[in-house]
Amino acid sequence: MASYLTDRILEYLDTHGETNSLYLADILQEDHQKIVGAIKSLETIHDLITVKPSSQKKWEITDEGKYVIEHGSHEAAVYNAIPDEGISQAKLIKSSPYAKVGFSKAMVIGWIGLDKSGNIPTVRKKVPSIIDSLQIHLKNLTNVPENLKAEYKKRKLLQEVMIKIMHLEKGPNFSTKIEKLETDLTSNLLVNGAWKDKKFKPYNFDALGASLQIGHLHPLLKVRHEFRKIFLEMGFTEMPSNNYIESSFWNFDALFQPQQHPARDAHDTFFISEPCLSTKFPMEYLERVRTVHSKGAYGSQGYRYDWKLEEAQKNLLRTHTTSNSARMLYKLMEKGDFKPIKYFSIDRVFRNETLDATHLAEFHQVEGVVADYNLTLGNLIGILYEFFSKLGITQLRFKPAYNPYTEPSMEIFCFHNGLEKWIEIGNSGMFRPEMLLPMNLPPDVNIIAWGLSLERPTMIKYGLNNIRDLVGPKVDMEMVHNNPLCRLEKTSRMICSRWRI
Ligand code: PHE
Repeated sequence: MASYLTDRILEYLDTHGETNSLYLADILQEDHQKIVGAIKSLETIHDLITVKPSSQKKWEITDEGKYVIEHGSHEAAVYNAIPDEGISQAKLIKSSPYAKVGFSKAMVIGWIGLDKSGNIPTVRKKVPSIIDSLQIHLKNLTNVPENLKAEYKKRKLLQEVMIKIMHLEKGPNFSTKIEKLETDLTSNLLVNGAWKDKKFKPYNFDALGASLQIGHLHPLLKVRHEFRKIFLEMGFTEMPSNNYIESSFWNFDALFQPQQHPARDAHDTFFISEPCLSTKFPMEYLERVRTVHSKGAYGSQGYRYDWKLEEAQKNLLRTHTTSNSARMLYKLMEKGDFKPIKYFSIDRVFRNETLDATHLAEFHQVEGVVADYNLTLGNLIGILYEFFSKLGITQLRFKPAYNPYTEPSMEIFCFHNGLEKWIEIGNSGMFRPEMLLPMNLPPDVNIIAWGLSLERPTMIKYGLNNIRDLVGPKVDMEMVHNNPLCRLEKTSRMICSRWRI
């Protein structure tokens, strides 16, 4: 079929010298897109034809317009539905899907009138016959004046579309007989020597492979995979993090966060109503935590308040993965012997946030923890440079910050080339002795840690500026299907021109 069409195009060009795709569609009685396809395939044959594309506006009949062509205009349909004795307005309006519009149009034109003298408003014909010029116009648009077309457009019966037209002329090697190009060099062609005279179709290195009918990973999973690879490369071990529900004890108290801290309020944290309390705690450790909060210990004066077990028992959706880091560090010391460790986790956390374009009530936290003898702030800065350089981020700055469980604490900023400014990407610090010593960690062991969200780098990587395009009911499955592989170290340069905050 296609080759038949290309033959017809070449024959036409042979006798007329030049033409265009729109004209060809008309005289060959073919769909314009098919003509364009045939011209494109002729274009691949070297110098056969020369093609110049251009675009032109064209009127197209909408589905509603097509309905009018078939059934008459809405006003004519209303007129024709009225019997000589008249009809109740309510009944008339139900006579077709467009009867309401038709009714008011026919009233305006004066084809029909509404008689309100009786109990029921009755519609009657006002003229003996009508000419449905709208239907006539839509059937053939050639002589319809532009102002009427604009009016039909307003009524959504016509729409203006831009179409790409191809102008074509004979090329230097024009011929009406096209030799079919070989696509494969077969063993037959080689054996009988026919390859010497054959012309081969050039390779199209830009052709995309057929898309696979398989599941696709969500961008967050792809970026998580990359972060996991970076941690593993740096010798980190993944912490178990499969517990969204946590007690306040591990989420806050173990981290030396006082019980009256605002973050422990229902405005910031989702508390669980059933089961609302946890009951199993390592009691000796818990007592040491109680002491350091209420009286102070290890050279710290503590917060000096009445620490309550009931407060620590309250269950919640964990607000950070640092609760798991605390559990892991406690576990590390349960056996009594300290060994240096490097742990990481990437998992979901929950905060009672006001939702907006950059905040959700649940998101993922990427967390790294390193414990060793005599670590310093210099070690933290060094490891952050190493970690972020693997993401393609090389310019970092640190700003003093406050976390109840770290001292010193630093917000991490990176330079964003696209925005040409420093933006915050994470939080970090050295765990406080008040957190570590109750766990029986040796006093000369220091622990450095940092955390960042997974969503922010993912939004950067995939050029999304609304977090709801990434998570939740508004996610476009096509986006998930089409988004490319993630290689973070290749990202930052590209990201930078795309990120808006
Ligand atoms: N838990 C911190 C947060 O929620 C991140 C952090 C982790 C900060 C480790 C310092 C050390 O933002």
